[in-house]
Amino acid sequence: MNLEEITLKINGAVRSAPMPSAIRLVDALRRLGYTGTKEGCGEGECGACTVLLDGRPVNSCLLFAKQVQGKEIVTVEGVGRGHPDGMHPFQKALVAAGGVQCGFCTPGVVVTGAHLCDTRPQASVQEIKEALAGNLCRCTGYAKIVEAVQVAVAELGKQS
Ligand code: FES
Ligand code: FES
Repeated sequence: MNLEEITLKINGAVRSAPMPSAIRLVDALRRLGYTGTKEGCGEGECGACTVLLDGRPVNSCLLFAKQVQGKEIVTVEGVGRGHPDGMHPFQKALVAAGGVQCGFCTPGVVVTGAHLCDTRPQASVQEIKEALAGNLCRCTGYAKIVEAVQVAVAELGKQS
């Protein structure tokens, strides 16, 4: 198997390792120790593998790691950076609202939800549901996740 040095910027740190040249981003992240990012479907359908790429949510199962060298990647381990005790208000609100059940969807929901709170604090309930539509959750019915977004937006408003 051909290995090549792949260098990624993850949560502000530059990480590098020899990897198969066609390795997907989700696998490269996990190989580098960022195991919070989960693979569900592997086909771009479930959103479990969501990370931020240059500030936009993407499915890391659909990208080659090689393609995204030089771009800023934020994984679920990094969404709380800069917040008190290292947790984004959405993470806390999600737990408090009971928005975590089996946890299958949670890493992707945390990345998408925190990004939504940070970038679109005025989003309506309908817009929140649409933003989360790419993150499949079979347990919660989404109501608690939407509630957590609203709580976190209010908390972020108080902090600013
Ligand atoms: S694992 Fe990537 S979208 Fe499901
Ligand atoms: S908490 Fe089980 S799929 Fe979302």
